[in-house]
Amino acid sequence: MMRRTQVGIIGAGPAGLLLAHLLRREGIDSIVIESRSRADVESTIRAGVLEQGTVDLLTELGLADRMKREGAVHRGIYLRFGRRSHRFDFPDLTGGRTIMLYPQHEVLRDLIKGLVDAGGQIHFEASGVAIEAVDTNSPRIRFSAGGNEHEIACDFVAGCDGFHGISRPAIPSDVRRDYSQVYPLGWLGILVEAPPSSDELIYAYHDRGFALVSTRSPTLQRMYVQCGPDDSPGEWSDDRIWSELHARLENDEGWRLIEGRIVQKNVIAMRSFVAEPMQHGRLFLAGDAAHIVPPTGAKGLNLAAADVKVLSRAIAEHYRSGRGELLEAYSATALQRVWRAEHFSWWMTSLLHRFPDADPFQLRLQRSQLEYVTRSRAAAVSLAENYVGFPMP
Ligand code: APR
Ligand code: PHB
Repeated sequence: MMRRTQVGIIGAGPAGLLLAHLLRREGIDSIVIESRSRADVESTIRAGVLEQGTVDLLTELGLADRMKREGAVHRGIYLRFGRRSHRFDFPDLTGGRTIMLYPQHEVLRDLIKGLVDAGGQIHFEASGVAIEAVDTNSPRIRFSAGGNEHEIACDFVAGCDGFHGISRPAIPSDVRRDYSQVYPLGWLGILVEAPPSSDELIYAYHDRGFALVSTRSPTLQRMYVQCGPDDSPGEWSDDRIWSELHARLENDEGWRLIEGRIVQKNVIAMRSFVAEPMQHGRLFLAGDAAHIVPPTGAKGLNLAAADVKVLSRAIAEHYRSGRGELLEAYSATALQRVWRAEHFSWWMTSLLHRFPDADPFQLRLQRSQLEYVTRSRAAAVSLAENYVGFPMP
């Protein structure tokens, strides 16, 4: 089956789906091609922190009704070390900005429903997805789905297929440079049936390793403990998890961790990665296809949103005026924000984890930096403005 569209989008994650919505708003049509099933996409557990700019974008697109009902606005976070908590008051430190806790898979459900209801096209369970002729003015996407071979002729291809997708390798290695850092750390994440232990997220630094108390809903909590990069969830019994959480969150403030039934465990690798440039011919990468951040700053989804905002504006300008400057500048424009978030996520990771190879000198530096961000308003402002996110491009 041969068809035409203006923008072929590979991947129905936050990047691909948001791009389809943004283009639709500009009257530009697209087809989204996704290798997994809708149920799979809608049930994969990922992070849940939305920057104000991402919340505003979802609101502008008319996709925020459920988020506004079910999500929770947070006005700060706690850093805990030395048995004490230190609060970062975001509105105070950033001129009124806040964050929203709303799980990524719920965002995806809203994005998919919104697109399908509006008559948008998404092909789930596509296999053998391939991109061709990105050096020409009419690149093509081929795939199989529902027992048929499909070919889509496009003006542009958006590679939104995540870190393991096929889009990034379609940029020849002699014009692409990859920057990466793999950390000797992992996070073991759990979902717990319990009420929230804290009104705001707690990022804890402890000799035994990092811990994070986050939330999903009034009855479901998300928590993490630093683990080895190659640990498997099977090595972490419920008892071991609770005993580490209690130890790493110890405090002199009378705060208590509320336990509950653990209903899911998974291990997350910690990696920083950027591919430059994020474009080649008529192929444009967005989101995790082009860059990965470790989860410590919760930037992944927000960066994907910023990328596709820049990309949709550039594509719209092309159709409106025929001018290509914004498209040519896409990679450079997006990478500015990407590298800021890369630095912040690397810095938060370095600040809060117990690195297996850290020597006593590095541990003293880490402690000094923790004290600095909690004592100096300038340092606290810097952490807070990065955490809540800079205004969208
Ligand atoms: N063909 C089609 N789809 C593909 C292919 C392929 N060859 N390879 C991967 N995909 C799909 C994946 O199944 C996934 O649904 O592309 C989608 C990519 O989504 P994400 O990995 O979520 O990446 P992105 O949209 O860039 O979102 C970035 O979301 O998942 C988080 O950690 C991520 O927070 C970050 C943010
Ligand atoms: C989460 O809720 O999953 C979460 C929150 C904050 C982070 C990372 C993950 O920094």
